[in-house]
Amino acid sequence: MLLVKRPEALDAAFVPDSLRLREKEIHAIEQNVILPLRGGNSSLMMVYGPSGVGKTTTMKFIQKSLGDVAVLYENAIAHTSMRQVLLDSLNRLGRINPSLFLSYDSIFGYLNRYQARTSKKILLIVDEARNCLRSDPEGLRILSKAHETFGTSMSVIFVSIENPLNFVPGITGNLGILFSTQRFRPYDVEELYSIVMERCRIALVDEAYDEVIVRYIAGMAEQFGSARVAIELLQKAAHIAEYTNSDTIGSDDVRAARAMINPFFTESKLGELDINELIMLWTICRCIGHGVRTNVTCVSRMLADTAQSFGVGPGKGMNVYRVLKRLENMGLVESRIMGMGDRKGVKKVIEINDLPVSVLSEKIERLIRRLS
Ligand SMILES: Nc1ncnc2c1ncn2[C@@H]1O[C@H](COP(=O)(O)OP(=O)(O)OP(=O)(O)O)[C@@H](O)[C@H]1O
Ligand SMILES: [Mg+2]
Repeated sequence: MLLVKRPEALDAAFVPDSLRLREKEIHAIEQNVILPLRGGNSSLMMVYGPSGVGKTTTMKFIQKSLGDVAVLYENAIAHTSMRQVLLDSLNRLGRINPSLFLSYDSIFGYLNRYQARTSKKILLIVDEARNCLRSDPEGLRILSKAHETFGTSMSVIFVSIENPLNFVPGITGNLGILFSTQRFRPYDVEELYSIVMERCRIALVDEAYDEVIVRYIAGMAEQFGSARVAIELLQKAAHIAEYTNSDTIGSDDVRAARAMINPFFTESKLGELDINELIMLWTICRCIGHGVRTNVTCVSRMLADTAQSFGVGPGKGMNVYRVLKRLENMGLVESRIMGMGDRKGVKKVIEINDLPVSVLSEKIERLIRRLS
């Protein structure tokens, strides 16, 4: 039976016509960035907050709703310099393949001519800005002074998950940059409920959902405060129900959906581990290798080696059983007692069942290098 009437409304990139629950944030952006820009004052804002809390959607919503300002939206995930971000924007404005060596003078000269032609002020939104903020503080300084130096009426909003105060060298000190910040907090369960309910109304036929199932989805996503998790659960559950010819989404469809987005759950959990726990989990991955399971003896033996190879020194007083328990409680590993065959007694074995071990160890490695 057809349950999804508008599939695109369940896509991550969908921007609703009205964006509820972010009115306060939108108002703050208007007051601190857009109104001043209209009046000829350029400014900088740092937007931050955890994954799935509507940062990108809010930016796209603002872009859609502003007619009198030229809003340039750039996803900078692969960029490590402000120059690259600006060159992408020029590209978007029709300057085909601007040279990588274009000077800031020429870049802003082009933007000034664009402004003269259209009589529009420019709002540049740099999404996923962590990399370029971290690696190019000098570029940030130049951008922040663009109005004084080059006469360009441009404001910039940088969007990242973590507060840039924590990772941009010198941002409050010698760079001398003025900026405002806007935090997007995680959604609570009632908010998630209303977001999912609204999305059901837009995307599904009436018979496909009811209050109980929407509550179930909201409850599952609550742990992350993430509307992305909630909507992805809804999308997958709806498709599963449709595929199995149900006339409504059932709780088992939601469970199956959850199992499908497990890598996401795992990733968020990894973010909560400290360095000792990460090293332990990585060691477990290594012990399992291409096999099915490992045991405490192997893990204990390899632990010090692993720690050393990451250059962090063996965790002081790390209690293997305690750390293992925590990993188990978080659902990252499973352990059980297994017979070793006739008269060989029993052993505690450890398994990882959510994700391929190779994928998991790569993710852990990245996190450890970031932490140490
Ligand atoms: N207030 C809201 N109303 C309706 N839908 C929302 C709201 N906030 C977020 N969403 C939906 O949740 C999903 C995730 O939002 P979005 O991509 O904006 O998160 P994000 O904060 O940018 O996350 P990330 O840091 O991972 O990029 C999108 O599908 C979006 O439509
Ligand atoms: Mg985003």
